[in-house]
Formats: sequence, C-alpha cells, structure tokens
Amino acid sequence: MRLTEAALNRPQSGVRKMMELAWGREDVVHLEVGEPGFETAPHVVAAAHHAAAVDHRTRYSPTPGLPELREALAEKIGKVNGIEVDGGQVLVTNGGANALFAVLGSMLDQSTSVLLPNPGWSNFTMMTRAFGATPVSYDLDASNRYLPDLDQLASLVRPDTRAIVLNSPSNPLGSVIDRALAERLFEFAAAHDLWIVSDECYDGVDFSGEFVSIGSLEGTPERVVSVYSFSKVYAMTGWRVGYVAVPHEVVTPVLGLLQPSVMCVNTPAQYAALAAIEGPQEYLDDWREQYRRHRDLVLARIDGSRYSALRPDGGFYVWLDVRDFGKSSEEFATSLLLDHGVATTPGTAFGTNGEGFLRLSLATAYDDLRLGLDRLLAV
Ligand SMILES: Cc1ncc(COP(=O)(O)O)c(C=O)c1O
Repeated sequence: MRLTEAALNRPQSGVRKMMELAWGREDVVHLEVGEPGFETAPHVVAAAHHAAAVDHRTRYSPTPGLPELREALAEKIGKVNGIEVDGGQVLVTNGGANALFAVLGSMLDQSTSVLLPNPGWSNFTMMTRAFGATPVSYDLDASNRYLPDLDQLASLVRPDTRAIVLNSPSNPLGSVIDRALAERLFEFAAAHDLWIVSDECYDGVDFSGEFVSIGSLEGTPERVVSVYSFSKVYAMTGWRVGYVAVPHEVVTPVLGLLQPSVMCVNTPAQYAALAAIEGPQEYLDDWREQYRRHRDLVLARIDGSRYSALRPDGGFYVWLDVRDFGKSSEEFATSLLLDHGVATTPGTAFGTNGEGFLRLSLATAYDDLRLGLDRLLAV
C-alpha cells in the first residue's frame, strides 16, 4: 500500500510548532496565539443553544448555507464591504480556511501557479501545494511598507499564473491595503487576466480607517473573490463559520468541492453566526479599541530598545524586528520561550522573508501583555 509523494511531503504549519513547545509549560506568557482572547458574545451562544435545544435545528443545512444567513451576509457584504451581491453568490463555509481551500481548488491544478504574500499565512502555501500548483511568492518588506509592489508583481507573472492572493488586514504584518493601492492591484490583475482572491478575514479589525475591500472596485464580483470569517472578528474560531462572495460562474465549482468535503457547516453554528451578524455590533468597537490599546502599549514599550516594529494598521499582531540580536527567528523564539517564559511565533513560520522577525499577538489580557513585554525587554 502506498501514499502519494505529495501526501508524504506536505509542508506543516510552522505556527503550531511553537504552540506545541509551549504546551503544558507553566508561567508562560502566551503571545503566540492567533485567535481572540475574548469569549463569543452570550447572545450568539444562546442562539446556537436555542436552535439545537428548542427548534431542533440539528440536521444538515443546504450545502451553500442557510438561506436566511446567506441573505444576511449579502446585506453585510454590501453595507460593510461595498460589494453588491445577492444571497446566491454567498457561500457559507467551514471558516475562512475552507472557503480559501474550495476557491483555490477551483482555480489551481498542476499546470498553474499563484502569487502568494511572503510573509503570509502559511496555509496559502499548504493549500497551493495540496492542489499540485506552484506557489510564487511576492515580497512584503520594509522597502514597500510591507505592501505588494506592483513592479515586482509584474516581474513574477508567468504564463501559468492564475491568481493573486491578497490579505488585508494582513496576518502576520497588520498592514492594510488602501484604496489607491487596491486600484493599482486591480488594474494589474485585469492586465494579466488573474483572479484576485482577497482574504479579508480580519475586515472588522482596522485601526486606520483606510481598509477597502478590493471587490468593491468592480461593484459586483467578476474577478475578485472575497473571503470572510466569523472567527477573528466575532471571537468564534471554534465555531467554524466563514463565508465567501464569488462571481456567479464560481458558485457551482466551489460547491463541487464543499459538497464532497464538508456537506454543510454545523447547523447550530450557522444560527449562531446569524445572531452575530444581525445582533448588536457595538461590542466589536470595544474589542477593536482594546487591540489598538495593546498595539500602542507594545509600540511605546519597545521604543528606544533593540527591537523595532511595523506599526500595524489592522489585525491583532505586531511584526517585531529582532535582527539586532544576531540570532535566527527560530533560535530567538525558542530561547525566549525556554529561558524567559514568553511564547511567540518565529517569523519564518510565515515564509522566508520572516527571518529576523517574530509575530506577537495582541489578543491577550493587557496585564499579560505587559508582563510579556517586561520579559522581552529584559533579554
Ligand atoms: C489570514 C488568515 N486567513 C484565514 C484564516 C482562517 O481562519 P478561519 O478558518 O478560522 O476563518 C486565518 C486564521 O488564522 C488567517 O490568519
């Protein structure tokens, strides 16, 4: 019996490595986590309970999602993201990850390549490899304020390039694509006839007011596929609900991967998502303010130290420059954990351009963050 070469050689997620090393250790400040420290709002939890216990909504839903949820999401995408869609163009998925998997799986095969951010969320590369396609990375670095560079993108396009993946607000950088850059990126993709897969899973965590959904530039989806999630914005990582706005022609291909892989998203969780999207939104402003306060604390504390950092405009991470210490990211992160009790993620978990950097999560309690910074500054 044999497994495929591809299955045996699949890249692993570097993010989990440090989490596993930190697991079970006492007195560790956790700045490696990629999820909100907040609890899911009580009215959201109650909606799932009510759906299951009272209304007995415990059976399969349609594969594309509950019709009322798709309608509510279409409205949100119109109002918040400026993209005109009908409910038929919105598909509910098992988190943003499942949406990205089904979308990229509809665009890529062995004969194609895709432009991916470096540093970027490692799952983009893992997915690309799973479909036998070639990842071609574009650089996000200080020379371009950690944003895509149009000249470099033009030099990377090949005859087999099918798509570009954008991620704004970015994990791990916190950089945000503004309208002017979105327009240039859209023109670039149009000139080369590429799909734009826009991962906007952190769309509610923008401090700058500059965030723009690139899909809004074309009104209704034609070239742009926009991916969203309840995970980060509503502190619902474990519920596994995401959604994607797609051009009409992409609906059936994506469903062709969702149907055999997940059948549908957990039905009570979809009712929770419906309550989240239709209920009060003000508490999200409080959460965003807390992330901003945490960001400002980190930036103030490292000012004048041997560390430096990009000022994140969104998301809940700080991209910390540790090059002054003369160690690799992995060595630095390991000694920070084992000798100083602070868990972080080495930048190399997000690609080769992460060498010399660490990702710090802001999604922790203020006092824990303060303690972590005390320890970091004592290195
Ligand atoms: C950039 C980015 N996109 C998508 C996801 C997927 O999250 P989920 O599948 O929980 O929606 C994550 C999670 O870490 C992420 O960081």
